[in-house]
Amino acid sequence: METILIRNVRAVDSLRDAECDILLKDGRIAAIGQNIAAEDTAFRVIDGSGLAAMPGLFDMHVHFRDPGQTHKEDVNTGSAAALAGGVTGVLCMPNTTPPMDNPEQVREFLERAKKTGVDVHQAGTLTVGLKGERLADYEALKAAGVTALSDDGRPVPTAELMEQALANAKKAGLPVVSHCEDLAIIDGGIINKGAVSEQLGVRGMDRLSEDSVTERDLQAALKTGAQLHICHVSTRGSTDAVRRAKAAGGNVSCETAPHYFLLTDELLLKQDADYRMNPPLRTPDDVQAITEGILDGTIDCIITDHAPHTAEEKADFRKAPNGVVGLETSLAATLTAFYHTGKLQLQDIVRLMHDNPKRLLHLPVNTLSVGEPADLILVDLNRTWTVDPDKLHSRSHNTVFKGMTFTGKVMMTITGGEIRYTYEE
Ligand code: NCD
Ligand code: ZN
Ligand code: ZN
Ligand code: ZN
Repeated sequence: METILIRNVRAVDSLRDAECDILLKDGRIAAIGQNIAAEDTAFRVIDGSGLAAMPGLFDMHVHFRDPGQTHKEDVNTGSAAALAGGVTGVLCMPNTTPPMDNPEQVREFLERAKKTGVDVHQAGTLTVGLKGERLADYEALKAAGVTALSDDGRPVPTAELMEQALANAKKAGLPVVSHCEDLAIIDGGIINKGAVSEQLGVRGMDRLSEDSVTERDLQAALKTGAQLHICHVSTRGSTDAVRRAKAAGGNVSCETAPHYFLLTDELLLKQDADYRMNPPLRTPDDVQAITEGILDGTIDCIITDHAPHTAEEKADFRKAPNGVVGLETSLAATLTAFYHTGKLQLQDIVRLMHDNPKRLLHLPVNTLSVGEPADLILVDLNRTWTVDPDKLHSRSHNTVFKGMTFTGKVMMTITGGEIRYTYEE
């Protein structure tokens, strides 16, 4: 393994935001400070001037479609997309084919994932077959290596079943990650219910679907004392509900994705299914509420909900499946929306995209200190670029940010002391 010396880089983690040199050796950070001598000519020296170094990002909500839908993505293409986006750790949702309710399948997947250079974690299902009928065996899933439990893609149908799931998850010591949606309210809706759905004459997805089940699950978490994380928050109502449950002392947290703080449902007027995901793009008032939730700490993490689908599936605006890819744009989108507008410091972004997700999943939170793993990214904060779907490393190109210009580009990703990705023009 190469010894790597990064010179004159802006090092940013929960402990520091300072210019220094960083020495990587044998997969660890061997030194950090001023004027580290390159005494050995075998060192690879990287000029970090103008770049920021931060711990590799952790995205606790991705869909790698492996096994079963690998024409959309697999663990290798998903990991390549992650590395290109500066994401060095992920939590994969269990709505694979078949779903991840089976310890053997979890073991097999995690074994294959070891070769990717990404710290790949897997969630087990809450219910057998994602059917919302019987609870899965959480102790067995935990023994197989799952990091959390979720039926993402579908809600748990009743409060009773959710309470039982939370109680069992608490016993197993696993967090529950909940997709909050009321399918009776959705009733075939495909975009946010409002002026745009009316104008297009398509069925809408009322925000009450998200808000009511979020409230239901938060109440169940308060009652059971279990750890609950709310998925992909998109509305003012669910942000407010999480804020209240935190104030009431719940062991609760939540996440949002860049499309919910950057975009609104006006984009659906294009009638392009690449702008469709679940929950849907909402209104300017929701964007405002999500932004406030990030700024006041109600929203703990920025995730992607990276949900690859093929161009063929996305061709029909009304019939296409929901979901957008996001691993290669999440940091750039976040820097553009929050750092370059002066709303957040870089250390806040490290907290939202590394520290908090890892803490919530009970994984070690990395810093750039001596002895820590050499898992870090180099970012050109001021480099402007335009999102070109054809240049993505993901097997699917259904990005909601196509043609948009962001400021901030991941230039290099290092994990286990090895350079896994280098940006090339
Ligand atoms: C996800 C998918 O495609 O698996 N789609 C989406 O629109 N978010 C499912 C999910 O996250 O609920
Ligand atoms: Zn890990
Ligand atoms: Zn979901
Ligand atoms: Zn999802």
